[in-house]
Amino acid sequence: MKTLHPALREPMQPRSWSVGLERPQALLEHIPEDPRPLMDLANRPIVSVRQFNQDMVAQLCRMAAWYETTPSIHQAPLAGKILISAFYEPSTRTRLSFESAWHRLGGDIMSITDAATTGIAKGESLADVAEMFNNYGDLVVLRDTRESAVYEMLDSLRIPIINAGNGIDEHPTQALADMYALFKWRPELMNKNVPADKRIKLGIIGMPSRMRTVRSLLLFVALFAPGFEEVVIICDTENEPFDPDQREELAAAGLNIRVAHRLNAELPQLDVVYINSIAWVGDSFERIGEELRLSTASPLKPGAIILHPLARGEELSTDLDATDHNWYFAQARGAIFVRMALITALVHRIHQVMDAPP
Ligand code: CP
Repeated sequence: MKTLHPALREPMQPRSWSVGLERPQALLEHIPEDPRPLMDLANRPIVSVRQFNQDMVAQLCRMAAWYETTPSIHQAPLAGKILISAFYEPSTRTRLSFESAWHRLGGDIMSITDAATTGIAKGESLADVAEMFNNYGDLVVLRDTRESAVYEMLDSLRIPIINAGNGIDEHPTQALADMYALFKWRPELMNKNVPADKRIKLGIIGMPSRMRTVRSLLLFVALFAPGFEEVVIICDTENEPFDPDQREELAAAGLNIRVAHRLNAELPQLDVVYINSIAWVGDSFERIGEELRLSTASPLKPGAIILHPLARGEELSTDLDATDHNWYFAQARGAIFVRMALITALVHRIHQVMDAPP
């Protein structure tokens, strides 16, 4: 007789690795509420981390923490608003967390998961598609393999657009989710002055010139440079990991950056390890740094946390999932709430959820 799979015999149980979920309260206590930076985001297109300032990030994280600690939102701030979710490149987290965020706020969604189902297959330009989007929705979230795609749409859009990943260029809302995870872990990292003994060492396993998540994360980290004693870029190639001027820009913003090649020699000093191996190349991707792997056998500092934008490959062993180093699942979950905060601001509905004038 066929037996039932063990998972079917009991109600679903919370996972023991839900670390990070209890932390949003710390952010609510740390950041005084100020709606003005969020009001300044109304109707803005979001393409690059360079568009944010510290106050915007702090208030977005505060609002995300409020959303995360308020499972039942009684108002529906996005009622009557329509999201156009246009993903011309595969995505699990970004598309579904944006759509989950929009649904949770009471809005409606039109979703495109394949450019070939639109006029693009017949040669229609993105500028013309964007002209049509103006009639159909209130905000566009776009992922495309090409860096220029979001700018082609911007030329004719009159509604805000969020860059959800444009080739190897940027992924600003992923980086916002990364910062939200970091600030939940250590709220004092967002302070303008951070005492020397509270500063952290961040290791990034990846290539800033080839990975949009790393490029955007570094720009946010530079915005909060006083909290970082050192940023170590760890890669297994002798090739220059930065674009021309990229490293200089980050250093000029106050980041102390070093490049290293031996992962295990660095790990015992690192408070946060950010790891990614996917780099986009045209319409496809390659995995780089695959020899740089993390597992429970790695010499991680006690208390160190691991972040990963996911999807993971061989570089991040599943044996770390059930350890306290695993903040990558909480990081992915938190993305829903920072995206809720950002879209509430962009569609000018802050006044419906905060004590702000309409
Ligand atoms: N982090 C991220 O961009 O994941 P997806 O490709 O699944 O959206």
